[in-house]
Amino acid sequence: MKSTTTRAFQWVGTLAAGALLLTACGSSDEGAAGQAGPGTFEGRGPITYVAGKDTTGSMQPMLDHWNKLHPKEKVTFIQLPTDADAQRQQMIQNAETKSDAYTVLSLDVVWTSEFAAHQWIDKLPEKRFPLDKMLKPVVETAKYRDGLYAVPASSDGGMLYYRTDLLKKAGVSQPPTTWAELKADCAKVKKLPEAEGMSCYAGQFQKYEGLTVNFAEAVNSAGGVVTDANGKPDVDTAAAKKGLDFLVDSVKDRTIPKEGITYLEEDGRQAFQSGKLIFLRNWPYVYSLAGKSDIKGKYAVAPLPGLDGPGSSSLGGHNLALSTYAKNKATALDFMKFLSSEENTATFLKEASLAPPYAALYDDKALIGQYPYLPVLKESILRAVPRPRVVQYGDVTAAVQREAYAALTGSKSSAQALKDLQEALQKSTGR
Ligand code: GLC
Repeated sequence: MKSTTTRAFQWVGTLAAGALLLTACGSSDEGAAGQAGPGTFEGRGPITYVAGKDTTGSMQPMLDHWNKLHPKEKVTFIQLPTDADAQRQQMIQNAETKSDAYTVLSLDVVWTSEFAAHQWIDKLPEKRFPLDKMLKPVVETAKYRDGLYAVPASSDGGMLYYRTDLLKKAGVSQPPTTWAELKADCAKVKKLPEAEGMSCYAGQFQKYEGLTVNFAEAVNSAGGVVTDANGKPDVDTAAAKKGLDFLVDSVKDRTIPKEGITYLEEDGRQAFQSGKLIFLRNWPYVYSLAGKSDIKGKYAVAPLPGLDGPGSSSLGGHNLALSTYAKNKATALDFMKFLSSEENTATFLKEASLAPPYAALYDDKALIGQYPYLPVLKESILRAVPRPRVVQYGDVTAAVQREAYAALTGSKSSAQALKDLQEALQKSTGR
């Protein structure tokens, strides 16, 4: 972490030297009083909170709670579509018109660099937030060039949901750790009369951000990478091909049902809850909702399977960012602190099984007793692989989606898709 002085200098770069000195010594996080501009965080009054549609129903009660405590600084919830790419587009449109309609943005973890580099979001005062209590990889997603541009609110790790009742009945005592086991388990379960008409597996294979996630997971879980440790594209490899082939072959042999190619998160959840799927790759939010459905008590979660053993998830989640063009930034900062507090993220965990950014909540014995998915989730997040952290993320994900979808729908071979993807990624990242 940088010293307060350094950060203060960065935020008040345009102030007169005297004021600069004062700020540096006084180390005010909000910058010099009375000065507008980056880092000043002034103004109190109504704000908006902008996020993808809340499928869990847990957000409005939390906002009502804030509004009761802050009647003069009420927050209005603006819900965008569930599809991550559509959210990104609307947020970018708002920024490009310099509109003040959006105050606090729920940014997908993969958008931080792009939004920060374009100065669509403000650099934030690190010491206002208890970052040291949060999981390190989660905090990293909120940074750009060592500066904090967002505050972790919820993390996300992919998990394998499975039907405990059916596996048990079919004589399968443990969830699969490899793709081959997953297919073998499905074959056993499908022999049961109650599994008639069921399909084996689904994830998110529609052409959108969810496909980027599922593609990257398949590649990583076969020992490949999309970009290497230095951010260089390296996806045209034998290991990556094994990962993509798992998905392509699964579509071909109907391990993934035909309609699986159209699924976003919510479609898969509905299919699993209505008894159409034996296995589902999805995020933690499904755990709580499935508990209120017909399969209540009949499912559990396991780490994602891979080629030779457990696979790895893509690191997901959402951070709170402050739109550069917003009004009432003092209120906004308080609200961001409120929404990302340990107490309130614990409430989201209990109400909606959302993954909190705070490390301690995953080791709390009482919580684990009540929420048995916590250890699997913690493991999933800590082992998760970040998607490329690049300013040109929009181009990167569009290329992944285009090539992965072409392979899944059979219009290109896996080998050709990976070759074309490697070229496209080299072009968009300039590496
Ligand atoms: C979840 C994740 C997010 C990811 C998206 C893909 O919302 O939290 O990181 O990009 O799913 O659909």
